[in-house]
Amino acid sequence: MIAPSLTTVPHHLAIVMDGNGRWATKRFLPRVAGHQQGVSALSRCVKACMARGIAVLTVFAFSSENWNRPAEEVSGLMELLALSLAREVPSLKANGVQLHFVGERQQLSDKVRAGLVQAEAATADNNRLVLNVCFNYGGRWDIAQAARKLAAGGQEITEMALDRALSLAHVPDPDLVIRTGGELRISNFLLWQAAYSELHFSDKLWPDFDDTALDEAIAVYASRERRFGKTSGQITPGPKKTTVKAA
Ligand code: IPE
Ligand code: IPE
Ligand code: MG
Repeated sequence: MIAPSLTTVPHHLAIVMDGNGRWATKRFLPRVAGHQQGVSALSRCVKACMARGIAVLTVFAFSSENWNRPAEEVSGLMELLALSLAREVPSLKANGVQLHFVGERQQLSDKVRAGLVQAEAATADNNRLVLNVCFNYGGRWDIAQAARKLAAGGQEITEMALDRALSLAHVPDPDLVIRTGGELRISNFLLWQAAYSELHFSDKLWPDFDDTALDEAIAVYASRERRFGKTSGQITPGPKKTTVKAA
């Protein structure tokens, strides 16, 4: 794990990359064309995050519920995953990105599953940026699989034990969660880990989410006061008391 930075830049940024379909529909293109643009936007975003000193980026690429989309779109997304692995992993590897795929793999094809394992192994020694790609992921799935793991091992279910059994146990909780595409909901993303994350909603469709939009989100994040249940007074130290020295 990379040490948290002491600046106002989030250590761990998580993004619901929403709006690919609308981006394509607006241009009279098939929805899959929007997903292709979404991959390019992610590639740019990874570079922008590294340039800004973000240590962990977690992105939502395919939800447990996205299987309910038309078969053509689902198969297009599976193909795009396989294609993107082949296209993007070499440069991610060269740029120091450590890749993790987070989600249920059983429903994926043997070829894709092997590709995920290979990509993770190829980038395991990198440490400039941890990139978690949530694919066939749902926050509810994650909590249930963690609880199942603990129960199978006869372990007591405590917050700490659950936390360690969750699929993002290798990184601290996200500091900032961005959702693009204008919807104001969480859609089953990081239900456990986002307990105290700052939330930012951008109207930009994911393929249009650029460096300026990222900087805006970071600036908004920097202006927030994170209290974690405490009072404001406990967080912001008051004016320094001047001690009067005895004569
Ligand atoms: C997000 O974009 C990507 C996935 C969910 C796979 P959408 O495909 O949900 O795009 P919109 O929300 O329909 O525009
Ligand atoms: C959330 O977007 C999932 C991803 C971005 C991968 P959706 O487009 O699936 O969410 P809903 O259906 O609008 O809530
Ligand atoms: Mg959507």
